[in-house]
Amino acid sequence: MKDAAPRAVHLSQYRPFPYLVDDVSLTFHLHPTETHVVSRIAFRPNPEAERGPLHLDGEGVRLVRATIDGAPLRDPRIDDHGLTVEAPDTPFVWEAEVVIDPSANTALEGLYMSNGMFCTQCEAEGFRKITYYPDRPDVMAPFDVRIVSDLPVLLSNGDPGDRGIGSAQWSDPHPKPAYLFALVAGDLVAHSDRFVTMEGRDVALNIWVRPGDEGRCAYAMDALKRSMSWDERVYGRAYDLDVFNIVAVDDFNMGAMENKGLNIFNARYVLASPETATDADYARIEAIIAHEYFHNWTGNRITCRDWFQLCLKEGLTVYRDQHFSGDERGHAVKRIEDVQILRGRQFREDAGPLAHPVRPRSYIEINNFYTATVYEKGAELIGMLRSLVGDEAYRRALDLYFERHDGQACTIEDWLRIFEDATGRDLAQFALWYAQAGTPRLDVTTRIEDGTLILDFAQHLPETPDMEEKKAPQVIPVAVGAIGRDGREVLPTRLVEVTCAEQSARFEIGTDDAVASVLRGFSAPVILRQDIPRADRALLFAHDTDPFNKWEAGRTLAKDALAAMITDGGEPDPAYLDALPSVVGDETLDPAFRALVLGLPSDDDMAQTLAQAHHVPDPRSIDAARQRMQVAMARHLEADFRAVIESPGIPDGYSPDAESAGRRSLRNAALAHLTLIDGGDLARAQFSQADNMTDSLGALVPLIRIGAAEDALAAFYDRWQNDRLVLDKWFSLQIGAAPGETGAAIAARLVEHPDFDWKNPNRFRSVIGGLGMNHSSFHAADGSGYRLVADWLLRLDPVNPQTAARMTTLFETWKRYDVDRQEMIRDALERMRATGELSRDTGEMVGRILGR
Ligand code: TRP
Ligand code: ZN
Repeated sequence: MKDAAPRAVHLSQYRPFPYLVDDVSLTFHLHPTETHVVSRIAFRPNPEAERGPLHLDGEGVRLVRATIDGAPLRDPRIDDHGLTVEAPDTPFVWEAEVVIDPSANTALEGLYMSNGMFCTQCEAEGFRKITYYPDRPDVMAPFDVRIVSDLPVLLSNGDPGDRGIGSAQWSDPHPKPAYLFALVAGDLVAHSDRFVTMEGRDVALNIWVRPGDEGRCAYAMDALKRSMSWDERVYGRAYDLDVFNIVAVDDFNMGAMENKGLNIFNARYVLASPETATDADYARIEAIIAHEYFHNWTGNRITCRDWFQLCLKEGLTVYRDQHFSGDERGHAVKRIEDVQILRGRQFREDAGPLAHPVRPRSYIEINNFYTATVYEKGAELIGMLRSLVGDEAYRRALDLYFERHDGQACTIEDWLRIFEDATGRDLAQFALWYAQAGTPRLDVTTRIEDGTLILDFAQHLPETPDMEEKKAPQVIPVAVGAIGRDGREVLPTRLVEVTCAEQSARFEIGTDDAVASVLRGFSAPVILRQDIPRADRALLFAHDTDPFNKWEAGRTLAKDALAAMITDGGEPDPAYLDALPSVVGDETLDPAFRALVLGLPSDDDMAQTLAQAHHVPDPRSIDAARQRMQVAMARHLEADFRAVIESPGIPDGYSPDAESAGRRSLRNAALAHLTLIDGGDLARAQFSQADNMTDSLGALVPLIRIGAAEDALAAFYDRWQNDRLVLDKWFSLQIGAAPGETGAAIAARLVEHPDFDWKNPNRFRSVIGGLGMNHSSFHAADGSGYRLVADWLLRLDPVNPQTAARMTTLFETWKRYDVDRQEMIRDALERMRATGELSRDTGEMVGRILGR
């Protein structure tokens, strides 16, 4: 288990596997503590690889017997990582039987148990905990699976075969890597439906849940059907099996998993009812259902050659699910939300010790590289590629991708070659986006001379820990427009390709009286630095036709105002407050957009912004400034807020559609502000009358913020104590929304609560992650937040290394803060490391955060 010095894997060391697999057949004799797995694997020498011994990965499996072509193995070498044996250089059959213990598997990787149900998680390298196998994505094979068990529901990948008493047969004809293998067995009920594909295939759809949850599947099913028809319409991709199963599991390390024909989901991203799920939950369910479904083509039919290519499937699939959600719900709001996530997670990662390229060059534990950079920045790269080649060429390129690489395990080079072949464009410079870490800084100055808008750009890529050599300029697509002083657009959006360190662009706009709108739609994942007068920002905020830049102008005004309040303790900038009413009160604008305008940058965002400007952020001043700003906004816009609350325009009866959700979010934003000045009367009234979770929390959260939620929290607990997903919210909110530094003490109390089941990842994340998300409490000056998080990560690590490792990223920003806080964080991390017992996962993270 605990390697002395876990070794790094390098991209440059890739070698093809010496054998191909023609066929896999597996039999599972399920038993909670002693599951027997019998395998029969047909191998054949790989003509494209060097000859070598047969190395099969295997971890924590007890070998009962193994043969090659029926004969016992000759001199096998078995260690903690697998089995190596000489094998013939002609086709042969491997047969083996191993025993595994699902009930002891708390890491939730491989075959494990959750509430009496058997389930699997194999990505990235979990299949090796099930049986001996070449557990690497470039080894693809059709699988036949037999499950022997008395449990009523027995599922695996592909299409079902014979179902006898106490056994079931599944067969997946599509060659797949082992990481897409899945098995589920339990006492489950289905919410079922059908979908007829554009090719005429009548597909049975099932969402499998624990009895009692079947009434909460309708929205996920609806999202699935919409995803299926979207992928047909927009990418020409149809589903390719007769059955599509989704299973909801309570104990799960991540969001969901795209196993072929048998997606497995964290229950929180499937189950929804108006009383238990918020509008944001509905939107996330829709996005994740789509994401996993879209993987069927981008990930499963075409997979990754090795794990360095992870962004090949993840970046593209995130891009696809974002596009889908935008089509379903409106692109303007979706783009703003996605950019907020990108900046909040990926820019944060890129600015710290965990920075890495979208395609990393080495790793110790691949699970640590399912990051915002691979996913979110990876998606941005697809979006840039599309804007560089145009929509029509993008679609042609994707058709070629599916045609050329269906059934293959591919690389980023394969992906870029497709675009080069489809468009004739040289993408050598674009490829740098995959290789160089760091968020580019793009400086721009603009001026207008004789009716010509002139933009001078300079790009600079900062140093990152993974790469100290000087970095080369990248190609940055910059969407530009201009708005006249009279508020009318004088330059509709044009695309500038910035390819050099310094570069200029010119546009005839026919007037000298205008303001440039740069990086419209956030056309590239860069930090734009532009020194423009506040009045010009206010003009863009009021009149920009590009919704992203309209929002961004308001956001920049807010950030500048907040930064000034934080550093010199002053009052809110009246120019910002005065600019708000005309946008917030503009009934022609989407209410969801107006709500986004009201959302101030988070404390962590402000800390990041200050650190970028070489200030040391003080968490207390940030929290205090944000509160003062919110109170000032409440006073300044009180009449508007009351008007919104009195006539929100929401039809009776809850519906999760984007339009109603947007109205609720505007009303709840208004309520949150008013609560700061009315002592909580409106919020208490809404809380007691709410018939849906969005409005309950819309009232509860501001009450927590003003420290007046005791009764409401007690009532909430009484009502929901038997609902695990709602109880997760009860835990996370009271810690996450706690004012000032109080969150750490609340978390310290809640870890003693009988419902704090710390081995359940969702519950652990609610409490410990809830504290980590409360900036001023996590960074409490006495270090109590750091100590509590470190204590619990140490406790979780031996039980569930993957989740523990992921949560150490809470510490990734430590270098931003003052020396006292830095020292306390270093102590916390050193204390974790000093145990000498850290898993490879958490050990790697702690080491990288500390800088080795
Ligand atoms: N491939 C999954 C997705 O993005 C991610 C995932 C789910 C995962 N479970 C995991 C990654 C466990 C690593 C480990 O949809
Ligand atoms: Zn994915």
